[in-house]
Amino acid sequence: MSKLVFIERDGTRREVEAPDGLSVMEVAHLHGIDLEGACEGSLACATCHVIVDAAWFDKLNPASENEEDMLDMAFGVTATSRLGCQIRMCEEFSGLTVTLPPKEED
Ligand code: FES
Repeated sequence: MSKLVFIERDGTRREVEAPDGLSVMEVAHLHGIDLEGACEGSLACATCHVIVDAAWFDKLNPASENEEDMLDMAFGVTATSRLGCQIRMCEEFSGLTVTLPPKEED
């Protein structure tokens, strides 16, 4: 099974199992990681925003225009930001590392 690494807001590194076909957001929920996903993957919120490790960013399928538009509304966006619900896990992405962005109220 593939692995997915989350860097939590306090810097804790959590390596978790990521069943193929699940999105990064769904994998976070499976393991109780504090990543929202208010619209459950229908590209209507941006609360599933994650910052992808630079070494991985170019390996992912590029973001769609709708995703880019939604990301514009996310807090703390960086050059390697993506929406967690739009990245689907597969073997090729095993080891993918994403950081949870700061929360607006922090
Ligand atoms: Fe709403 Fe990803 S869960 S855009």
